[in-house]
Amino acid sequence: MTAHEHIPVMPEAVISYLAPRPGETYVDGTVGSGGHSELILQHSGPDSRVIGLDRDPAQLELAGARLAEFGDRAILVRSSYEDVLDVLSHLHLDSISGMLIDCGPSLDQLAGRTTGRGRGFSWRAEDEPLDMSYDPDQARTARSLLAELTERELLELFGQTLRGGEVRRVVSGILRERGQRPIETTGRLTGLLRRALAYKGPAVDRRISAAYLALRIVVNDELEGLARGIDAAVEALRPGGRLVILSFHGLEHRIARTRLRELEGGPIGPPRLIGAPEREAKVKVTTPGPLFPSEDEISANPAARSSRLHAAVRV
Ligand SMILES: C[S@@+](CC[C@H](N)C(=O)[O-])C[C@H]1O[C@@H](n2cnc3c(N)ncnc32)[C@H](O)[C@@H]1O
Repeated sequence: MTAHEHIPVMPEAVISYLAPRPGETYVDGTVGSGGHSELILQHSGPDSRVIGLDRDPAQLELAGARLAEFGDRAILVRSSYEDVLDVLSHLHLDSISGMLIDCGPSLDQLAGRTTGRGRGFSWRAEDEPLDMSYDPDQARTARSLLAELTERELLELFGQTLRGGEVRRVVSGILRERGQRPIETTGRLTGLLRRALAYKGPAVDRRISAAYLALRIVVNDELEGLARGIDAAVEALRPGGRLVILSFHGLEHRIARTRLRELEGGPIGPPRLIGAPEREAKVKVTTPGPLFPSEDEISANPAARSSRLHAAVRV
């Protein structure tokens, strides 16, 4: 068995849109266990480098083991991809030729393989602490949100991924349960979600997943973080440099699509104001629309099912 079980998603398309070349420097903003980084290093030929970033030191360890054969062509840094410009300045680099952002948790994190103990990312886990943060030193966790958010804030949080009646049932379940004792484990949370959403019948599992997703997004500030990360990546790219984004659910797809369109000089939010000034284009979107994984890829790697790929080139 390998040390990692995460399989890189849409590998051919990532390499085709990133088009890595010898002698160039790339940033893998979410290095995980290093699957995409390994491909970039293999396809770019000699003298290229990958700077791999991750908020999770356990993931960086996995990537370090996998990328050891590339020696100093792989540089690993514990950082958010939002801070790519700071990382580059510490490394005395002005710009890069490409950057990849592969959103969400890796299968290794979901399975708790990296830390020997799950962190509550998955509702299928029996009884794990409800952390859900990629960065193990972060104070905000799913536990702390469930304990501290007001009713209104909880309604807003779950409203991201659940619908009206579902949200109200889930939030009243949380308020009731936390009044008895803190909700600190996946077992407690899944139990209360199951009771609140049981009326959904066979769809209940998907609604529980959606509730977990809403919490994870807020614990890690994933949506605004993605928008900021796209902006930072674009600033880091040299003209002609390429950005590839892999997103995994509707809220991420929308941010990837709309932020790239805005950076292309398109309207900020519909509808466009008549007479609004044209904005300077920073990128040209190179994907004809979102790219989907093939049926073959989905059968070999079901975790790829919901993925979409967006790519752009810096102008
Ligand atoms: C889907 S996995 C990446 C898998 C990787 N592409 C591979 O092939 O092995 C996403 C990784 O991004 C990390 N991550 C999440 N948010 C991040 C952020 N803002 N900055 C850097 N890493 C982040 C997670 O800890 C996780 O390891």
